[in-house]
Amino acid sequence: MVMKYHIWTIGCQMNQADSWRAAEELDSLGWESTARPEDADLVLLNTCVVRQSAEDKACGRLGSLKPLKRHRPQAAIVVMGCLVSEDTLALERSFPFVDLFLRPSDVEGFIGFAAERWRTGPSSSPDAAQDAPVCAYVPVMEGCNNHCTYCIVRLRRGREQSRPIDDIVQEVHCLVQRGAREVTLLGQNVDAYGHDLPGQPNLAGLLRTVHEIDDLWRIRFLTSHPNDMSERIIDAVAELGNVCEHIELPVQAGHDFTLKRMGRGYTVDQYRRLLSRIRERVPGAAVATDVIVGFPGETRDHFQATYDLLAQERFDVVHVAAYSPRPGTPAARLEDDVTSPEKERRRRLVEELQRQVSSEINHRLLGSATEVLVEEKHKGRWKGRSRGNKLVFFDYDGDWRGRLAQVEITRAGPWSLLGKVIAPHPA
Ligand code: SAM
Ligand code: SF4
Ligand code: F3S
Repeated sequence: MVMKYHIWTIGCQMNQADSWRAAEELDSLGWESTARPEDADLVLLNTCVVRQSAEDKACGRLGSLKPLKRHRPQAAIVVMGCLVSEDTLALERSFPFVDLFLRPSDVEGFIGFAAERWRTGPSSSPDAAQDAPVCAYVPVMEGCNNHCTYCIVRLRRGREQSRPIDDIVQEVHCLVQRGAREVTLLGQNVDAYGHDLPGQPNLAGLLRTVHEIDDLWRIRFLTSHPNDMSERIIDAVAELGNVCEHIELPVQAGHDFTLKRMGRGYTVDQYRRLLSRIRERVPGAAVATDVIVGFPGETRDHFQATYDLLAQERFDVVHVAAYSPRPGTPAARLEDDVTSPEKERRRRLVEELQRQVSSEINHRLLGSATEVLVEEKHKGRWKGRSRGNKLVFFDYDGDWRGRLAQVEITRAGPWSLLGKVIAPHPA
């Protein structure tokens, strides 16, 4: 009988990468994926707690699995991810029907549990391994040594731990052999890559090494902390043809008062200078940022400074979140003094501003030729991304998955572009 698994994931790209790897490992052990948890022998919830809303979602989903265990006691439920701290006692009490709690990214623990419980060994040869996604995520480090006062990630994922370069290169090789053409190197603080390893390699060196891999067309990395974004990294992006001119550089706030209380370790002015440097060295760089609105003590004037920064610097993408106090973080001890409606008002203002800015940036691409790496078919259209990480759709016959297309942009909205193929890349 074929064993079935169901994986549910929320959170950042790191969780997505872990879930993908867990699925791949189970597939190679002969398991089959199922869309319904009720049909599964093994259910994995890969959780996120970055904000209360994410935690509520994870706990809600977990609660909904309780009847499943009653109807099928032989099925196993495993919870992984940032919901799970070192001390699992409280979770065990709240969710006694869960078979195993695993720390974030403990894919080995998960596979070990499955193999032990069902005594399965590899059932397929490596040749039969499934296709890799065209654009694959590759975690290159875990954890974070920064001290942002609002952040629970560093508490749940621990201190920085980088993977050796050889390990990463081997994984990327393997992904490329199976059809990947783009990799995104992941870390909570990816530009600090290697600082904890013997000989202190760095992200710039890693980019240069990965760049040597044949048939890999594009490389990205995220997320960068402004204090660790070195000139060496900027040079690597400027000089290496396959490294996309796309940088994720969270600013979080546009006023020094808030930045200081957030423990970000830089001033608005320092951030602006870094951004100018990146734009000077990497012309046309697409820069995305994150902001939190309604942090404790953020007045209307402080918020206005964030708004002005975003309006002036014109980012390609802004991820905006309303501040959510997280237990155990230093900021949770501050008075959460911005009301929920006011946080929501600020969040909406940023979203409206960014819709406008993104529309204008994208409109300027009308009529231009853009190189698109095609990922999949979506609602009857081919879907891919430009080097600047813009979502591009087009219609064209044939199988475009994993190919590059030159596309002329014919329609531009704030969140995606539509185009027509002008020069198919030779397959
Ligand atoms: N290491 C990255 C960084 O420095 O931004 C990513 C951290 S977190 C996974 C992603 C984003 O969630 C952050 O950039 C921040 O904007 C948001 N975030 C983190 N903690 C938050 C909190 N307590 N309330 C609201 N948003 C939060
Ligand atoms: Fe959290 Fe700050 Fe580290 Fe990002 S840089 S993971 S926000 S402590
Ligand atoms: Fe969430 Fe953990 Fe990622 S809290 S955003 S899954 S690092």
